[in-house]
Amino acid sequence: MCGIVGYAGGRPALGIVMDGLRRLEYRGYDSAGVAVVDAGELLVEKKSGKLVNLEKCLAERVDTGFDVGMTGIGHTRWATHGGPTDRNAHPHLSADGRVALIHNGIIENFARLRADLAADGVEFRSDTDSEVAAHLFAAELRGVQIGGPAALAEAMRRTARRLEGAFTLLAVAADTPGAVVAARRNSPLVVGRGVRENFLASDVSAFMEYTRDAIELGQDQVVLITPNAVEITGFDGTPAVGTAFRIDWNVSAAEKDGHEFFMLKEIAEQPQAVADTLLGRLDGLDLDLGDVRKIVIIGCGTAYHAGMVARYAIEEWARIPCDVEMASEFRYRSPILEPGTLVIAISQSGETMDTLMAVRHARAEGARVLAICNTHGSTIPRESDAVLYTRGGPEIAVASTKAFLTQLTALHLVAMDLSSPPGIAAALAHVPDQLRTLLGEMDPVRKLANDLADARQVLFIGRHVGYPVALEGALKLKELAYMHAEGFAAGELKHGPIALIDEGTPVICVVPSPSLRLLHDKVVSNIQEVRARGARTVVIAEEGDDDVVPYADTVIRVPRTPALLAPLMTTVPLQVLACSIAAARGYDVDQPRNLAKSVTVE
Ligand code: M6R
Repeated sequence: MCGIVGYAGGRPALGIVMDGLRRLEYRGYDSAGVAVVDAGELLVEKKSGKLVNLEKCLAERVDTGFDVGMTGIGHTRWATHGGPTDRNAHPHLSADGRVALIHNGIIENFARLRADLAADGVEFRSDTDSEVAAHLFAAELRGVQIGGPAALAEAMRRTARRLEGAFTLLAVAADTPGAVVAARRNSPLVVGRGVRENFLASDVSAFMEYTRDAIELGQDQVVLITPNAVEITGFDGTPAVGTAFRIDWNVSAAEKDGHEFFMLKEIAEQPQAVADTLLGRLDGLDLDLGDVRKIVIIGCGTAYHAGMVARYAIEEWARIPCDVEMASEFRYRSPILEPGTLVIAISQSGETMDTLMAVRHARAEGARVLAICNTHGSTIPRESDAVLYTRGGPEIAVASTKAFLTQLTALHLVAMDLSSPPGIAAALAHVPDQLRTLLGEMDPVRKLANDLADARQVLFIGRHVGYPVALEGALKLKELAYMHAEGFAAGELKHGPIALIDEGTPVICVVPSPSLRLLHDKVVSNIQEVRARGARTVVIAEEGDDDVVPYADTVIRVPRTPALLAPLMTTVPLQVLACSIAAARGYDVDQPRNLAKSVTVE
């Protein structure tokens, strides 16, 4: 959650920090703030609500220092402790206003620290856990004997050692222009290395316009950036080095490129994203998965749904037992992880805390972990035994679209690597073209969205790989259109959920490929059952599947694929439907309420 940016260099920091915040706003949009250091002055502005509110405030400020200071930090917030108000917006300041600090994460021992600081006479100006870190850092800075930027690093190490929980902290001090110091524990932070300028950010999209050279940090590290240096140490002061990497995302990938929403752009990018995921991998993967006797897939939200789809392919093609579990539940039930268990952790961001904790648990129990991830420099791949990057490019919209399709693609590649199902490589190679065709045929879905925009509820049903697609369709609609939407295994309807259906209830039916004859026919029966109770049936069916026509109020066609690859097609109309319904209802498609893209708290 929360997006963090820092800059120390030879250019005015404000524009660079604000650009970074624009790219990181998907991480949280409850408030935003910046601090700039110029000639011994610390200038701060912060505002509740989206970044645009901060931009308006800044436009009205006339102090020139703000425009010329070459050291700065910025924050965009997803609120945890304290409501989304101006006073809880970051940066938080020391009592004398000479130090500014921003925070992502949760400081678990903040109540005790706050009480101690209050007893020492510190007056708090916010309800956040973060403000304690600002006061602690300022107090430690006063106690450090050395001067200059090194003092900031030492004060940050001392501060970090007193904190419990998850945190990325960035701080600047009025008396130390040209330096930004940061600490990291269980919360994302990457360094960008430029020429006579350096950057810090929650992820590389914030600075990739300025540099392609980045450094991954380890846990429990402090990093000090000045225009000409990056110095990394452990919290105990031991010198450390990060892992350098090149950023291969292109800058335009993080822009809307004429699309109304990032989500629409990302839906449109799916053919290329899937092609990139497949590139050079159809003949096998460069992965040493060892002796795999059981697979456990973990992930959250959309990533969990991708895992549910993959289970069918892994078990059918590779005949390896496969469990799928929500990462947030995994470690709390003492899962049995035997030698030969491969845990596959799926995460677009690579930072989801529930998934990260599950990865750590799995490794501590002796399992090997393969990460399927989109984001270089993120924590989950770094802490896994192996990684398969999805190559989807930046996904900015909160609702996952291309992440899902590229995760499915990567998972199918893994399943193929463990087996060698005939014909699947050729079918996968054809998928990008099929997606292009499908995306060109979405007008009926957009029209349907207008019809359904006022529905009280929308139900989704599917079987086999269509069941997780139904769950994914419902999740998209909930998160974007704030409608009651539920996905069900079609066979379960008669065990309860069918009672939800009354006259006109839209039911979206994901029909299996006719090649799965028995299942297909059962879903056709399920469609008749809901229709008999008044449902308005919207049927997603393969081209040429005419069995569904008599029972469908609307048919949406998708290209033919092998049955196990069908979710690569059937998901797409559901993405477009949710996006279009949300737009028709007048909601912010890219930044739905209460959510953030990267969920770095448990
Ligand atoms: O970054 P991750 O893939 O780990 O994120 C997992 C979920 O938070 C994410 O898929 C979420 O469910 C999406 N916003 C749904 O569209």
